Amino acid sequence: MRKPLIAGNWKMFKTLDEAGAYAGDLARRISDVDSTEILVCPPFVYLQTLVQAFEGSPVKIGSQNVFWEDSGAFTGEISAPMLRSIGASYAIIGHSERRQFFGETDETVNKRLLAALRGGLTPIVCVGETLEQREAGKTFAVIEAQVKRGLSGIDTDRASSLVVAYEPVWAIGTGKTATPEIAQESHSFIRGLLKDLFGDETAGLVRILYGGSVKGDNIDSLMARADIDGALVGGASLDAASFERIIRFKGQ
Ligand code: PGA
Repeated sequence: MRKPLIAGNWKMFKTLDEAGAYAGDLARRISDVDSTEILVCPPFVYLQTLVQAFEGSPVKIGSQNVFWEDSGAFTGEISAPMLRSIGASYAIIGHSERRQFFGETDETVNKRLLAALRGGLTPIVCVGETLEQREAGKTFAVIEAQVKRGLSGIDTDRASSLVVAYEPVWAIGTGKTATPEIAQESHSFIRGLLKDLFGDETAGLVRILYGGSVKGDNIDSLMARADIDGALVGGASLDAASFERIIRFKGQ
């Protein structure tokens, strides 16, 4: 019912030459894949090049952020209509690194989300607790606040296209993946929140990705869980061979 989505978040890595070489390599490796949706989210400067490089392949291209106004005097920002116009189809919103280093809040996440939907981009909204919050028993309260505030004001008919990424902050870039049990527990909690917000049918269509140290050796057991519909992959997406292994998770 939900097509798996494996998304690579390059963060601030790769030069133009490296990006081009990667695109050729990945496109060759995964040209036969159609049961899983594949997404690459490079830095803004390579978006258009990669849209062109992956043309005719199953790989879609998304941005790592999007501004909430469509145009105007906002020096340094990039809008949803601009991203659509160069062929990007997804936007990551509210990644924990943006929350941590760039003042992102649930309110700005919500504004970006509404702008992305309005502009025809599929938003991937990131939520997740810090280690401190988990140890204090606040995981569900944190996730609930992030989901309810971040996703407020969306029409139910648009909500089914949403993607939510559960990324426990303590698992990002640390090599400490959440166990499939921990991840499933949070995913099923998020699915429940989506049911409250949008009803059972729509909530059943929303894909919930897991993110945080996903690698070739843990993807299979994560994807075996009922509410884990894909992965948002940082470090392990930077190498085409290791990303291919994740895309070809076992049990599909
Ligand atoms: P990681 O990053 O796979 O390197 O832990 C995941 C992310 O931040 O999206």
